Amino acid sequence: MVTGHLELTPDEMRALGQSVVELLVDHFSGIHAEPVGRKASRAELESLFGSDLPEEPGDTAQILGAVRDGLIANSLHIDHPRFFAFVPSPNNFVSAMADALVAGFNVFAGTYFAGSGPAHIELTVIDWLRQICGFPDGAGGLFVSGGSMANLTGLAVAREARLGANAHGGVGYLSDQCHSSVARALRVLGLPRERIRAIAADSDFRLSMRDLQTKVAEDRSAGLRPFCVIANAGTTNTGAVDPLTELATFCAGEGLWLHIDGAYGAPAVLTDKGRGLLAGMELADSLSLDPHKWLFQSIEAGCILLRDRSLLLRTFQVMPEYLRDTHGGSEEVNFGNYGVQLTRSFRALKLWLSLKTFGLAAFRDAIARGIELAEIAERELAAKGGWEIVTPAQLAVVTFRFNPPDLDTAAVDVLQGRMVEAMLADGYALATSTVLDGRPVLRFCTINPRTTDDEIRETVRRMTQMARTLAAG
Ligand SMILES: Cc1ncc(COP(=O)(O)O)c(C=O)c1O
Repeated sequence: MVTGHLELTPDEMRALGQSVVELLVDHFSGIHAEPVGRKASRAELESLFGSDLPEEPGDTAQILGAVRDGLIANSLHIDHPRFFAFVPSPNNFVSAMADALVAGFNVFAGTYFAGSGPAHIELTVIDWLRQICGFPDGAGGLFVSGGSMANLTGLAVAREARLGANAHGGVGYLSDQCHSSVARALRVLGLPRERIRAIAADSDFRLSMRDLQTKVAEDRSAGLRPFCVIANAGTTNTGAVDPLTELATFCAGEGLWLHIDGAYGAPAVLTDKGRGLLAGMELADSLSLDPHKWLFQSIEAGCILLRDRSLLLRTFQVMPEYLRDTHGGSEEVNFGNYGVQLTRSFRALKLWLSLKTFGLAAFRDAIARGIELAEIAERELAAKGGWEIVTPAQLAVVTFRFNPPDLDTAAVDVLQGRMVEAMLADGYALATSTVLDGRPVLRFCTINPRTTDDEIRETVRRMTQMARTLAAG
């Protein structure tokens, strides 16, 4: 080790690299036998790691051991086949290796000048996603950190395209089932809260066309400037899909921008079931998707597609003098001018490498499997006494609550949250809760293709046992 250079010898680098790869291979190949993970307290972690700033060099093998046993073991494995909470990220080994390459070569994907190869691959993968989502030629986009940044980027373009420099009086419309990142993005973009219209969804948790039309008309007659509607291609809560075709027709007629948040649901368009459910998604002006969810990539990997890619430059391009050497011709795409980040990682490589390695058909099958798993879970729950299916399996999400006849509503509400604590303590599998129509419910998101039928059955069996114990206690 040459410490003053922050350098390891080639043998030390190989040893460290091999240890890291061994850890990852053990993780990917042995995960079914492992618990879903755990949450440690700050006090526990403090006693394991301390917090002293190290002045002297340490032993990498020992430090790596602590990372494995202390840090990784005290996390929830969002790639675990029995992690059904929130929206999982069932990444794949190839994606992880791509990130290792990108980090190792420290690829700069902000300008064509510094990263012509990476820009070419990003353009290629964006075009693949364009084709998958049914967007026309002329559409384009870029990779960003995740769905939240994709929503922010798409809505910044919407504001520029529909309101121009003066956003005064602008109003944005969304359903109350939209992901929180949408309202946050509108706030960041300067919309005051009273001009972010969260419209109550209908009984199927879809945006109500009638209420939307009424609100837009009211706002116009009040002298406000409606400019965009945000719809869902799969809500986080229930997997519901808003009436996309009707929304596109309405927005076109009203001159409104249609942004579709397909952060988790959009890739389902690759499957027969998903294609039917997501009809109209291709009509959006902008579409968010999140390859680190249902395209099986390591976080971070989000993506925004624009029907008219030239609007990205109009919104974000600034050309300072110290970057004048990077101002190439039109074929030299500078992704640093397409969004908020100049220095940006090469996120497209992992999806490119994964698609090249496994082929699109494997992705299609893996997504179809996720849709099927939620259906299996719904059947298993329905077959056990006490469970009420609140929303049926759709786009790999099913919601339910333990609701035995002998418990009152308040007790049933409390029980759902206690189920999450019980599952976390048990460690076999994890579901989390949400609230629908004012009532807490449990929710499975089953997008991990590596989950087995038996794992679903065993999860439901354990949950039923836990719920009965909690209800009795
Ligand atoms: C529909 C939807 N939109 C946006 C997001 C935010 O994505 P990210 O967490 O990648 O920023 C999520 C995350 O679950 C989501 O489900």
